[in-house]
Amino acid sequence: MQSSLSTDRLLLRPWATGDADFVYDMYSRWEVQRYLGRVPRVLPDLAEALAMIERWKGLDDPVHGIWAIERTQDRQLVGTLLLKSIPASGELPLVPSGDTEIGWHLHPDFWGQGYATEAASTVLEMALASGLEQVVAVTNPANTASAQVCRRIGLDHAGQTDRYYNTTCELFVTSPG
Ligand SMILES: CC(C)(COP(=O)(O)OP(=O)(O)OC[C@H]1O[C@@H](n2cnc3c(N)ncnc32)[C@H](O)[C@@H]1OP(=O)(O)O)[C@@H](O)C(=O)NCCC(=O)NCCS
Repeated sequence: MQSSLSTDRLLLRPWATGDADFVYDMYSRWEVQRYLGRVPRVLPDLAEALAMIERWKGLDDPVHGIWAIERTQDRQLVGTLLLKSIPASGELPLVPSGDTEIGWHLHPDFWGQGYATEAASTVLEMALASGLEQVVAVTNPANTASAQVCRRIGLDHAGQTDRYYNTTCELFVTSPG
């Protein structure tokens, strides 16, 4: 069972079936999906949102997680924080690279308030304290907002890579040691 984490303004908790309307609302928006995956697509219906939540709930790992980000003051959901295995480029189906990636998806109503940075800093700190030696983040080269989050949480830009997801990404990594 994935544990919850708290920050000054946010609670990171496991996703629940009752969150499906929010998940559908967020992932059916092109401005959220446009830089995600090799061939971005919006979520077509609520059934897929429910299926995503079921997959996320099934993730059973002591450190990795896919958290719902909830604003503490009013319990408003604002997005997703991910710490997960990143697939290596190669033949389909893609297999794990052995590296761990951190990622963030926020509903556009909640951009520009520092929530992604706040949630990601806490998860990164937890990941490193749990013994992970390195965490990576990959962003579409056009996704400057996400690259800024990487820099704000202290990741180093390591140029471009085609090592993951069969696509070319900007690579950000935790500093050695
Ligand atoms: C990437 C994404 C999460 C960035 O969201 P964001 O809100 O810009 O990121 P942050 O949480 O770091 O917020 C930073 C902004 O909040 C502002 N801010 C306001 N209050 C703040 C506070 N208390 N603390 C920190 N920043 C604050 C900052 O000035 C900055 O604004 P700016 O971009 O105008 O300079 C968002 O664009 C998104 O979800 N995109 C779609 C999904 C996506 O592409 N994900 C990444 C895949 S690699």
